[in-house]
Amino acid sequence: MSDAHLQLIGEQIADLQAHFVRHEGFRRLEEDFRLLRHRREADIKAGRSREVRGIAVIGASGSGKTTAVDRLLRNAASVVKADPDHRAIISLRVPSPATVKYVGQTILRGLGYPVNGRRESWYVWNLVRYQLKERQTLFLHLDEAQDLAAKGTERERQSVVNLLKSLMQDPDWPICLVLSGTGELADILNFDPQLGRRFQPIRFEPISELADLAKVRDLLSAYIGKTVLAVDPDIESDAFGTRLVHAAANEFGLVIEIAIAAIEVALLRRATTLTVADFAGAFRRRAGCIDGLNPFVAENFRRIDPRELLAEEDRIR
Ligand SMILES: Nc1ncnc2c1ncn2[C@@H]1O[C@H](COP(=O)(O)OP(=O)(O)OP(=O)(O)O)[C@@H](O)[C@H]1O
Ligand SMILES: [Mg+2]
Repeated sequence: MSDAHLQLIGEQIADLQAHFVRHEGFRRLEEDFRLLRHRREADIKAGRSREVRGIAVIGASGSGKTTAVDRLLRNAASVVKADPDHRAIISLRVPSPATVKYVGQTILRGLGYPVNGRRESWYVWNLVRYQLKERQTLFLHLDEAQDLAAKGTERERQSVVNLLKSLMQDPDWPICLVLSGTGELADILNFDPQLGRRFQPIRFEPISELADLAKVRDLLSAYIGKTVLAVDPDIESDAFGTRLVHAAANEFGLVIEIAIAAIEVALLRRATTLTVADFAGAFRRRAGCIDGLNPFVAENFRRIDPRELLAEEDRIR
């Protein structure tokens, strides 16, 4: 295949990957976020300072948490004041190990503040508070927030949680936290009721094979509609939809990932029509598995565990 052709396919796939679907969970997230922002801005304007609330986005791996929060914060960044010295929103991934000191240093780095690794943790956190106020930070997003509970002793974990709680309660400059993570994040919030009640949970629920097939079909048509490909009628069947949902481990984001991968397979074979075989090919390529373990091929696809097959470092868990 010529380089020009590959470039064309590469560009089309990149465009598909850049497309964002506004789903129900995202709409709720956006609304809750806007409400928090307006409340905080009103408090600042009135010179009031009181403790704030946060949002916890909870969903399985591949449900679309990172993508949704990234989109939300990117949209919000254009609305919030754009003074170059200010960092109204900071978004970070919880570092590993999530110790008090390391979490603090990561936040400082996110604030664009150089940190000396030898500093004590109390010093780092004082600096965090000072810098958050100095940069007029309103929101702090921590992705993979379940990792706050991943390692370390119970006491260390509680200290990190207490520090995060104290950021929201800071009498001088409280920070709204946005946490996103898998189910274990819900455990952290449940474990500490004081923390839990300060968060509005938004769950990115799994897709149901029974209730959501029509939505999955619409999603698929929307993506295929952005290409030149025609659709094989088999792809519109419920039987195929069920296999797709199963192959995607019932996760919204993974349905999209597999659909784009199948479109790529079809474009690479210079097809004019997208077929079930393209989905099988995409899954084969991604999981490197035999047909007996391919949900688009295997007779008894329900006994296949797609999470195990698609597992990549840091992705499906
Ligand atoms: N709303 C969306 N529109 C378009 N694509 C999406 C959307 N949500 C998720 N995706 C796609 O789904 C895939 C998985 O999404 P994402 O990485 O956000 O999931 P996650 O919930 O953060 O998973 P993990 O817990 O493993 O980090 C990505 O390839 C992403 O591009
Ligand atoms: Mg993620």
